[in-house]
Amino acid sequence: MGVRAEGVDAGAIVLFGGRSEIGLEIVRRLADGRVVVLAARRSGDLERERAEVVRAGATGVHCVEFDADDMASHESMLEKITAEHGRIGVAVLAFGVLGDQGRAEREPEAALAVLRTDFLAQVSLLTILANMLRAQGDGQLVVFGSVAGFRVRRANYVYGSGKAGLDGFATGLADALHGTGVHLLLVRAGFVIGRMTEGMDPAPFSVTPGRVADTVVAALRARRPLAWAPPMMRPIYFASRFVPRAIWRKLPR
Ligand SMILES: NC(=O)c1ccc[n+]([C@@H]2O[C@H](COP(=O)([O-])OP(=O)(O)OC[C@H]3O[C@@H](n4cnc5c(N)ncnc54)[C@H](OP(=O)(O)O)[C@@H]3O)[C@@H](O)[C@H]2O)c1
Repeated sequence: MGVRAEGVDAGAIVLFGGRSEIGLEIVRRLADGRVVVLAARRSGDLERERAEVVRAGATGVHCVEFDADDMASHESMLEKITAEHGRIGVAVLAFGVLGDQGRAEREPEAALAVLRTDFLAQVSLLTILANMLRAQGDGQLVVFGSVAGFRVRRANYVYGSGKAGLDGFATGLADALHGTGVHLLLVRAGFVIGRMTEGMDPAPFSVTPGRVADTVVAALRARRPLAWAPPMMRPIYFASRFVPRAIWRKLPR
């Protein structure tokens, strides 16, 4: 077992989706004294993000090319990261797309594209990461589900179904990892004001990426299996189970 520094496992902090607003807020809170890897598309164009993480105290920030949809490349990319930067302490899977629901209802390829990124690519990466961390005997994984996957809504059922699948997969994987020393944190976030939701009116109980990151980092340090962001989403979504379908299907989004 590796030594735990400041409550999270020792080793590199790796952000998959290196420009994710929520992901970068989490990394800024964990970066002090750590090696950070930003894995993203267009990895040569991460200067702003890199500078932000250096300012947060990282001892080194490395940018790695990562296209989640290119699943055949996942294994070699992860092997390269560990060969060059050592063991992984925390891996944050923060990539994702909201997609265009209207288009996805008309064109199967558009629906599949959302599910490829938001479900299949996550499953591929998590499976490889889980095996690597099992072999290490420690390490922490952060997975982004959503309230949209807890009870799927008519207005965004394509994105919601991807998150529902991911929620189930992550819950099962967390149980499979129980007792191995590896910790998986599933985050069920509500509406986050930021790039992904740009142009949409904030829903009730909206949060900022910074507040989501505070919740995630506290849950990582406590090695909790599940975090709702904001915490108020938990009772709201449990109660939502009792809302009749005839009402639920009319929710505007
Ligand atoms: N924002 C919300 O309201 C909300 C609510 C609940 C859950 N979540 C989830 O939280 C996670 C982080 O969201 P966020 O708000 O931080 O979103 P964000 O700022 O839009 O970041 C998402 C990142 O995913 C990357 N990405 C998309 N497709 C990719 C691909 N094929 N390969 C590699 N990277 C890809 C994008 O990279 P590029 O820079 O290359 O485009 C982008 O930087 C997501 O899983 C999201 O579904 C968000």
